[in-house]
Amino acid sequence: MKLALGTVQFGLPYGIANTSGQVLPQEIAAILATARSNSIDTLDTAIAYGDSEARLGAAGVEGFKLVSKLPKLDNGVQSIEPMVRASLDRLGVDALEGLLLHRSEDLSGPEGVAVFAIMAGLRDRGLVRRIGVSIYDPAELQAIVPRFAIDLVQAPFNAFDQRLVRSGWLERLQHAGVAVHTRSAFLQGLLLMRPDIRPAAFGRWSEQWTAWDNWLAKAGATAIAAALQVPLSQPGIDRVLVGVDSELQLRDILHAAVEIGPTPPASLATDDLDLINPARWNSK
Ligand SMILES: NC(=O)c1ccc[n+]([C@@H]2O[C@H](COP(=O)([O-])OP(=O)(O)OC[C@H]3O[C@@H](n4cnc5c(N)ncnc54)[C@H](OP(=O)(O)O)[C@@H]3O)[C@@H](O)[C@H]2O)c1
Repeated sequence: MKLALGTVQFGLPYGIANTSGQVLPQEIAAILATARSNSIDTLDTAIAYGDSEARLGAAGVEGFKLVSKLPKLDNGVQSIEPMVRASLDRLGVDALEGLLLHRSEDLSGPEGVAVFAIMAGLRDRGLVRRIGVSIYDPAELQAIVPRFAIDLVQAPFNAFDQRLVRSGWLERLQHAGVAVHTRSAFLQGLLLMRPDIRPAAFGRWSEQWTAWDNWLAKAGATAIAAALQVPLSQPGIDRVLVGVDSELQLRDILHAAVEIGPTPPASLATDDLDLINPARWNSK
């Protein structure tokens, strides 16, 4: 199963399409049960996701592989191992499948060699199986992949944001033997909204939206199936993370993922960072 579950919604009231706030413990249990019974094997979390790790630990994550992320390393490299041990405690697991840096500058910056040595040491000792970075732009990889033997990269990839493929980085990562997890298949849910409920702030990209709406209508595809098809159809992507606010949304995703339909073309993608990088949405 290529789908994996993102869990920021378990720890924070998160997302532009989220009308229900932070996911409640009972709903988390239902989401994890549905994930398990549909062979989803990977959960993605982060120390920065509020109490996501603790909620996962309380719900029980037996049978899942866990990927977590270290927040920006402001307290020096010596803080890495204690943070990882605290994550393992909260999650109730002996080892992580993946340990990522939430800010890739921690590896490309002046302390990079020391940071890598500590992460590689944790890998050698079996506390984590794979080490790597979470990125916002594939260009971040240029200062990392040639220098450090990382195992895993997480990057955004969706119908509007195809930089990972267009830059050539997906292929380069594959050749380098680096596993790739993608996130943001629905662009925080924006790609799934009916035109009449899309927030007005996104009206300035009306041509982009018309192209998307028209393509879906012509293809006879649902937005959710088409949006999933974009990362699922790339053989070089190992796991496609999806975020959900409810168990029902996960069921919708599981149904849509097996629909056979056309893949939205790369011509629907844009390089306009103000649209494809959600971190820039609030600053405008
Ligand atoms: N049927 C439906 O209507 C339906 C079904 C499924 C999902 N949905 C909606 O889709 C949402 C999930 O969308 P998705 O899977 O495409 O994931 P997403 O929310 O686009 O991406 C998840 C990750 O991208 C990064 N990101 C997103 N916004 C950011 C911001 N403002 N600043 C910095 N980083 C940001 C975050 O990673 P970092 O913080 O780690 O950097 C976040 O964990 C759900 O919450 C739900 O509301 C709706």
